[in-house]
Amino acid sequence: MVHPIFWLVFLAHSFQHSVKDEFGAVNHLIGARLNSNVDLVENVGDHIVNAGGKRLRPLVVILSAMANDYRGEDHIIAAAVIEFIHTATLLHDDVVDGSSLRRGRNTANSLWGNSSSVLVGDFLYSRAFQMLVEIGNISVMSSIANASNLISEGEVQQLSYVGNPDVDELMYLEVIYKKTAVLYEASASIGAMLADCQTKAMEDYGRHLGLAFQITDDILDYRGQVDTLGKNIGSDLRDGKMTLPLIYAHGSVSASDKALIREVVIKRQKKNMIEVRELVKSSGGLEYSLEVARKQAMLAQDALSIIPNNIYTDDLNNLAEFSVDRLL
Ligand code: IPE
Ligand code: IPE
Ligand code: MG
Ligand code: MG
Ligand code: MG
Repeated sequence: MVHPIFWLVFLAHSFQHSVKDEFGAVNHLIGARLNSNVDLVENVGDHIVNAGGKRLRPLVVILSAMANDYRGEDHIIAAAVIEFIHTATLLHDDVVDGSSLRRGRNTANSLWGNSSSVLVGDFLYSRAFQMLVEIGNISVMSSIANASNLISEGEVQQLSYVGNPDVDELMYLEVIYKKTAVLYEASASIGAMLADCQTKAMEDYGRHLGLAFQITDDILDYRGQVDTLGKNIGSDLRDGKMTLPLIYAHGSVSASDKALIREVVIKRQKKNMIEVRELVKSSGGLEYSLEVARKQAMLAQDALSIIPNNIYTDDLNNLAEFSVDRLL
C-alpha cells in the first residue's frame, strides 16, 4: 500500500505536467458560480466546496477531453458541473447517512441542520443544470441528466436495502453502479462527446473506475483512518448496509457467526458490531473486496487501451491505480 502523501504528490505532479491550467480554471469557476443573494446558500456552499475534496471527477472530465484532443473551452464548464452534482449528492448523502465529518470538517448537516443541507444540495444541482445549458450540447446534457436520475435511484435503492442481510453481490453491484459509477461514466464520456469522438471506450473506462472507487470506499469504511479520509468510518455497518466486505463475510463464515451478522444488520444494535467488524476482517472480506476492486481498475485500463497513448491517457491509467491503492 502506497502512503497517501505519495498520491497527493502524484496528483499535484500530474497536474503540473498535463492539466494544471485547466484545473485552475475549473476551481476558479466552481468558486465563482457558487454565487447567490442568499447568505445561507453561500455559507453552506463555501463550507463544503472550500474544504477541497479530491476533485477526481472533474479531473476525469478534463483528462478525457484532452486525451481525445478536444480544443475548446466547454470541458472547464462540464468539469465544474460534475463537481457541483457530486457535491450536491454529498450534502444529501450526509443527511441520509447521519454523518458528522466530511472532507476533514464537520458536515453541513451537523452545523446548519438537515433542511439547509438538503436545500443547498438542491441549489447546487439546479446551478449545475443552468451551467449545462450554457454548454448547449444535447448529448452532454442527456448523459448528465440520466446520470443524476440514476444516482438518486441508486441512493433510494440502497435505502430500501437497509437492514436486509440478504443483499447479495449482484444487488450491491447494481446499487454502486447507480450511486457512484454512473457519474464517473458520465465524466469520462462527456470528454469524448465534447471532442466529437466515439464515447464507448471512455464510458467503459469511467464505469469500471467508478466501481473500483466505490468498492475501495467500502473497504476504507472498515479499515481506513478518520484523519486521512476526513470522514467517519464504520458507518456502513452501523447503518445496516451490506457492502461487499460484509457480503463476503456473511457468505463464508460459520452458521453461528452468520446468525450474528444477520442479527446486527437487522437490529443494528451496537453491542455486537465490534465482533462483526472482526469477522469481516478475519473472513478475508477486505482482501476479497480489494481483489474485485483491482479487477475493475484493470478493466478500466483495458477499456482505455484502444485510445492512442498520450500524457492524458497515462494519467487516466494512473488514476485507475489510485482508485484502489488510495487511503484517502
Ligand atoms: C465520496 O467521494 C463519495 C463516494 C462516491 C464514495 P470522494 O471520495 O471522491 O469525495 P471527495 O470529493 O474527495 O470529498
Ligand atoms: C456515496 O456513498 C454515494 C454518493 C453518491 C454520495 P457513501 O455513503 O459510501 O459515501 P461516503 O462514504 O459517505 O463518502
Ligand atoms: Mg455516506
Ligand atoms: Mg451513503
Ligand atoms: Mg462510504
